[in-house]
Amino acid sequence: MSTGQPLPHDSAQLHVTGQARYVDDIPVPAGTLHLAFGLSTVARGAITALDLGPVRAAPDVVAVLCAADLPHANDVSPAAHDEPLLATGRVHYVGQPIFLVVARSHRAAQRAARLAQISYAPETPLLSIEEAMAANSYFEGGPITWAMGDVDTALAQAPHHVSGQIEIGGQEHFYLEGQAALALPNDDGACHVISSTQHPTEVQHKVAEALGLPMHMVRVETRRMGGAFGGKESQGNALAVACAVAARATGQPCKMRYDRDDDMMITGKRHDFRISYRAGFDGQGRLLAVDFTHYTRGGWAQDLTLPVADRAMLHADNAYFIPNMRIESHRLRTNTQSATAFRGFGGPQGVLGIERVIDHIAHHLGQDPLQIRQRNFYDMASKGSNSPRIRTHYGMELRDFALPEMASQLAETAQYATRRAAVAAWNRDNALIKRGLALTPVKFGISFTLTHLNQAGALVHIYQDGSVHLNHGGTEMGQGLNQKVAQVAAHALGVGLGAIRITATDTDKVPNTSATAASSGSDLNGMAVAQACATLRQRLSAHLAARFGVAESEIRFGDGQVQAGQTTLSFAEAAASAYMARISLSATGFYKTPDITWNRQTGRGQPFFYFAHGVALTEAAIDVLTGETRLLRTDILHDAGNSLNPALDIGQVEGAFVQGAGWLTMEELVWDATGRLRTHAPSTYKIPAASDTPAQFNVVLWPQPNGVETIHRSKAVGEPPFMLGISAFLAISDAIAACGGAYPALDAPATPETIRNAVKAQATHGV
Ligand code: MTE
Ligand code: MOS
Repeated sequence: MSTGQPLPHDSAQLHVTGQARYVDDIPVPAGTLHLAFGLSTVARGAITALDLGPVRAAPDVVAVLCAADLPHANDVSPAAHDEPLLATGRVHYVGQPIFLVVARSHRAAQRAARLAQISYAPETPLLSIEEAMAANSYFEGGPITWAMGDVDTALAQAPHHVSGQIEIGGQEHFYLEGQAALALPNDDGACHVISSTQHPTEVQHKVAEALGLPMHMVRVETRRMGGAFGGKESQGNALAVACAVAARATGQPCKMRYDRDDDMMITGKRHDFRISYRAGFDGQGRLLAVDFTHYTRGGWAQDLTLPVADRAMLHADNAYFIPNMRIESHRLRTNTQSATAFRGFGGPQGVLGIERVIDHIAHHLGQDPLQIRQRNFYDMASKGSNSPRIRTHYGMELRDFALPEMASQLAETAQYATRRAAVAAWNRDNALIKRGLALTPVKFGISFTLTHLNQAGALVHIYQDGSVHLNHGGTEMGQGLNQKVAQVAAHALGVGLGAIRITATDTDKVPNTSATAASSGSDLNGMAVAQACATLRQRLSAHLAARFGVAESEIRFGDGQVQAGQTTLSFAEAAASAYMARISLSATGFYKTPDITWNRQTGRGQPFFYFAHGVALTEAAIDVLTGETRLLRTDILHDAGNSLNPALDIGQVEGAFVQGAGWLTMEELVWDATGRLRTHAPSTYKIPAASDTPAQFNVVLWPQPNGVETIHRSKAVGEPPFMLGISAFLAISDAIAACGGAYPALDAPATPETIRNAVKAQATHGV
């Protein structure tokens, strides 16, 4: 029984002893060259003159390439073919790669890249939402709208209303390992790329296009990433393609890694959003209608902006039944880094919108926000009644909704009512330190909304000594996917975990994979591996049944042994026996998620196989005079279904919460008036440290199996708990509200400056 065990990450020891190898640690062949991009220093305009003479003349420079030198496709975009590897006459943001330096050392390439003489005819960049809208700078031509019910009538008839707006900042991924790739040219013109990517197949595809080769001439390998968080879904393409093109041009291996500053200047981040809302509700705070407008800055290229903005819309209900709902979504093209996937993929922004609405309603009615949440929850018990409260705004009926029970349980175990009273008492007695409390839920849809991505493959070998080697299409980025998949295989074959070995993800082993994303890595690849193992088990069973003259049903696998009627063999003996009988001990597995349909134009369908749930209660304190904050305590109850590995899952929940709280309370991206990102290093961009985690931090997994048939009835866990960080933001907002006055206008991130201003704005009561 390997599944369900709280085992450590399979590379834990390598991680903590510094022995785990990342792309930049791989010993490279003699003659390996190093690359750096020359970057645009203006946000928008035409390149009028490009003198690369000084770059070519710099020490140790071997070659310098610009767009005209690229032999085939000049495109690293994941979808829209709108993202040239090297600029073609025009630049679209500060940090855009214009040319590529190939040198004998990383340092030489970096130094030379700064020596180009470039003249521009600069134009006024589109930086803000207002500027982009005024210029009609949209992806897909204009805003898109989904509507359910009659919002205008319902709003007009509602007895109570609130309206407001929240600005939600973006977020730098800050993976500890920066972007990196290494390309090794083969003797036959093929190319072997080692890439820090969540999406080896896409890197293979983009490299093949850039070299004018069929995909079978390109092999992409990924052993592990030192964190990715969505930032390596598409943003690694440029480095891999640059290495492949330079390796082709020079005939030598080429490696590229971004320094941290370059990484932050070049690569896309979480989409920042503005969400404005109008809501109508009854005297009990029950929602009657909500009208949302989402605005997001997608940056210079489309990348994944459309599905990210879609997912924000799909999560605009979070956990609540909203009978009449309209969402208008503006996906704006701006002269900034191309915003990209980041844990939650738009979901967190959508969820924050409705959580803000609920909180505002509670403040408006002077009622407890938890009660307002509970009154608005989807209600499975209403199924089959005249007015069922189980249909989402995109027309999907919920089949499973654990939040009412989970919220009640957490409220009880974490003593919500008692602590609510204690916080009120504290706030009566203390003028300078205010406390706040917030219990927020998350319901997160699991599946890629692009239906065809919901597939996975696996390749499993049993060797004649009974050891098992397997590969699957997923990538390891620290989340523990390989350990979970190994546990699935060990369980399926009845062997110990030591018998299973998983090696680097490799497009040679498992083809046509999807990005490891949308939290679906273990769901998809776990199932594909289980299926391959079932095939092998079946072959072993048939062989042993024939050999020992027993029925196949009498063959049992477990504890590293195989029971064939009265006979007991070790798994190794069983494998050797099958080998001698000339039975194939290698099998592939394949899985596709059932039961999903989605039309993103109409905003209708069943885009998710199921939902993962979680609730968090956070208590925060603010210093009214300085705006500083502390998270005093967080209690989380999170639904990972029948957890494949509770230790890894709790780690995912803790990490996601802290990353979510970091996004909303301290991580701040600042662009200046010329479009230059001023927060491009850890000196100016603050991520949470260990000391920023809640002083008391209790995470418990909800012990119910998934209602639908996933691998061992587990649930995806990578992204959903990120949204529990919203409880930290709303606890801070609650503390500000304790200063008196209207519902606080608080934008994210709630930095000390923002908090201080919000406190001051609490009119009469502000200090
Ligand atoms: N955990 C770690 N340690 N490092 C990461 O980069 N990425 C997150 C999440 N957890 C990430 C992580 C994101 S964005 C996703 S989509 C999932 O892991 C992907 O892995 P999974 O599908 O196997 O959960
Ligand atoms: Mo995660 S944002 O889906 O890589």
